[in-house]
Amino acid sequence: MNPRWTQVAFQLGINSNGEDPGTHGKHKTPMTDDAVSTIDRGLASLRETFLPRFRAAATEQALRDENAKILGKKGELTAILKELGKAPPSSRKAIGEKVNALKQEVEAGFEQCLRELRRKEREADLSAPPFDLTLPGRVPVTAGHKHPISIVREEVVAVFRQLGFAVYDGPEIEHEENNFTLLGFPPDHPATDMQDSFWTKSGHLLRTHTSNVQVRAMKSVKPPMAFIAPGTVYRRDDDATHSPMFHQIEAFLVDKHVTLAHLKGVLAEFAERLYGPGTPVRLRPSYFPFVEPGAEVDIGCVFCKQSDGTRVGCSLCKHTGFIEILGCGMIHPVVFENCGIDPEEWSGFALGMGLERIAMLRYGIPNIKLLFENDPRFLAQF
Ligand code: PHE
Repeated sequence: MNPRWTQVAFQLGINSNGEDPGTHGKHKTPMTDDAVSTIDRGLASLRETFLPRFRAAATEQALRDENAKILGKKGELTAILKELGKAPPSSRKAIGEKVNALKQEVEAGFEQCLRELRRKEREADLSAPPFDLTLPGRVPVTAGHKHPISIVREEVVAVFRQLGFAVYDGPEIEHEENNFTLLGFPPDHPATDMQDSFWTKSGHLLRTHTSNVQVRAMKSVKPPMAFIAPGTVYRRDDDATHSPMFHQIEAFLVDKHVTLAHLKGVLAEFAERLYGPGTPVRLRPSYFPFVEPGAEVDIGCVFCKQSDGTRVGCSLCKHTGFIEILGCGMIHPVVFENCGIDPEEWSGFALGMGLERIAMLRYGIPNIKLLFENDPRFLAQF
């Protein structure tokens, strides 16, 4: 049996034999031949008019509206269907088939007109005068600019390049040997703890500092050498001044007879070029496993500096007039040995700084998160 017909029969309230179940009950609907001819006339007039009506629609929406007027819930064909109850049961099956046939014609007519409308639309598009790509836009385009981290990184790189340092690169996924072991971290050093590092399987981790590049350079380049290594580093740290991902620049120099005075000279030059002439530098003894001696470096506070160059102390420098900017030291003889360089013949220094810290000091940014959220209201200030 035609499934469509079953559906129509169901809508009409008749069973598949064309019998009206209502005729067996008490409430018989009045049945007249009149009703049959009313339905026939309705169907005939619809059959004649639907196509011209579809063709008159100028837009897809108008066409859809017209279609709904015929086939929709309150449509004309639906209204005719409702009349069917008044027709004698013997003629209902035949009428149902007619209704169904007309419904299919209307649907096909709609599809055809739709295709025709779309074809015309496309033709009109193609034959329209070409779109003028040279017209100015309606919304002004504002030019972007460098991120503060990039600005600071380029400045630091420029200073060291002027001093004769090369620029080296290293991997962010590193073996623990290059990140820790050869740099003299004892196996139980807190920095190697799961708390501080992102470990992968098989002894690899996301590097916790750019000092891995020292190891790689010493293993592959013959001294003398002087380079910097900018890059991304990772630690399990997360608060207002620490981010799990941040940026460092390492500077590294190996030559004959290098002393702490050379390191201090480079630091003084660096501070002057980055923070202005006369910026004071001081070294505070500190511990890093791969340097001896090791130090933390402070520069004169950039926030409470007066026009005469003195510092009055402020909350940002904890009223000391100095702010910490990096770690440094003379390369530990054991590290030289670990990497195949004779510490009797060569000496050198290393220093490492966090770029976020440099940028926060430079611009007075209170929270490191601002540097990673990329809110345009924040970035527009640089
Ligand atoms: N690698 C050290 C850190 O990330 C910084 C450093 C580099 C210290 C070079 C001394 C020498 O904390």
